[in-house]
Amino acid sequence: MRTGRPSDTALHPEFLPGRQGASLVAAPLLALRDVDVRFGAVQALRQVTLDIRAGERVALVGANGSGKSTLLRLLHGLVPASAGTVRLPGATARQAMLFQRPHMLRASAQTNVALALWLRGTRWAQARADALQALQRVGLESLAGRNARTLSGGQQQRLAMARAWALQPDMLVLDEPTASLDPTAKREVETLVADFAAQPGMTLVFSSHNLGQVKRLASRVLYLEQGRLLADLPVHDFFHGPLPEEARLFLKGELS
Ligand SMILES: Nc1ncnc2c1ncn2[C@@H]1O[C@H](COP(=O)(O)OP(=O)(O)OP(=O)(O)O)[C@@H](O)[C@H]1O
Ligand SMILES: [Mg+2]
Repeated sequence: MRTGRPSDTALHPEFLPGRQGASLVAAPLLALRDVDVRFGAVQALRQVTLDIRAGERVALVGANGSGKSTLLRLLHGLVPASAGTVRLPGATARQAMLFQRPHMLRASAQTNVALALWLRGTRWAQARADALQALQRVGLESLAGRNARTLSGGQQQRLAMARAWALQPDMLVLDEPTASLDPTAKREVETLVADFAAQPGMTLVFSSHNLGQVKRLASRVLYLEQGRLLADLPVHDFFHGPLPEEARLFLKGELS
């Protein structure tokens, strides 16, 4: 029986593994064909066609408003396509997502992780024990009892990593995981992401404005501009090969 249910159980999707699609035998893990996403009059994604295979480390880059967060939310099953077809991971795959601003309940760090496990069906006592282990994994065990909302930005991002880690996903979706962190916290979180991604079979999809981070973490780069996917290249080719003019100008601007 589930016991000790915390009172504040707003089901923010950061607490949950992603929506699970129909069971599919064949790779790729994810497939988009001519996908549009509209929010009223705003078209956030236009005609996006994309496959992602298990084990890939995919970075999304592009200017503010280019559609990165929308694409990540679409891949996590949180935003519907307005047109086109979307095939999400099969029933056996599990996703965890970290949002641009981590969402924490007004409860202890340990409870924030335990709740995600409990919602997935783990007994509360076990969930709390597993949560502590996940906090140890990210170096936050000494803050397990602290109200998560009083943690610093870097600590909250590490806590969000612990929560994702505890869910044992096959695919990790990260929206600018180190934005607005100081250099030390950036390094710490990036190391955690790298460790996470190094697990066999783990698929990583993340957005970043930090091109150094993209080089360090990604095997493949997607460049978005005004909702269009203008480049989809191995990381080396993105930084060293010929690019579509728009992507070349973006890269030049970011690097200068
Ligand atoms: N829920 C929403 N309702 C209306 N418009 C939205 C919504 N979400 C995103 N948009 C719009 O869709 C476009 C793409 O936004 P998105 O957040 O995906 O961009 P982004 O590349 O993540 O930008 P940033 O680098 O600033 O995080 C923008 O024009 C944005 O204003
Ligand atoms: Mg964004």
